[in-house]
Amino acid sequence: MLEKYTELKDKHTAIAVIGLGYVGLPLALAFAKKLKVIGFDINAERVEKMRNHIDPSNELSKEEFNDCDIQFSSDIQALKASTFYVIAVPTPIDDSNLPDLKPLLAATKTVGSTLKKGDSSMNFPLFSIS
Ligand SMILES: NC(=O)c1ccc[n+]([C@@H]2O[C@H](COP(=O)([O-])OP(=O)(O)OC[C@H]3O[C@@H](n4cnc5c(N)ncnc54)[C@H](O)[C@@H]3O)[C@@H](O)[C@H]2O)c1
Repeated sequence: MLEKYTELKDKHTAIAVIGLGYVGLPLALAFAKKLKVIGFDINAERVEKMRNHIDPSNELSKEEFNDCDIQFSSDIQALKASTFYVIAVPTPIDDSNLPDLKPLLAATKTVGSTLKKGDSSMNFPLFSIS
């Protein structure tokens, strides 16, 4: 794990954040102050806004995007540059407080399609899937 951290710290590899909403975008930008980050979201319109330093959730100012090493993409291929994946997609609950896990399953498939031997993945904030 220390080796993985060193690779990330030295920017020999990138960390990916999948799902750039209220949780994912600030998390991705915080990582990007120190590490190389791929910010992935399926919503291309939201991605285009983030490329222009606009937070589609209207929580963050343009300045928060400054000095960040981050590539925003809605193309799964961009994830191949990563070795560590954090998933932060919505898990809305119904009237019985049961979460809809469809977005999480879809994001897991996305990561699964690009995961290489030795890569790590975790879901925020529910559980680790590594
Ligand atoms: N918002 C909060 O205050 C809050 C607080 C604590 C925990 N959480 C948890 O954090 C997680 C993320 O919630 P949020 O509020 O950030 O969601 P959100 O709705 O703000 O954003 C989710 C983002 O994920 C993207 N997305 C959806 N499916 C995707 C997929 N398959 N692949 C890639 N991107 C996808 C959407 O386009 C959107 O940009 C959830 O599990 C939620 O329960 C949220």
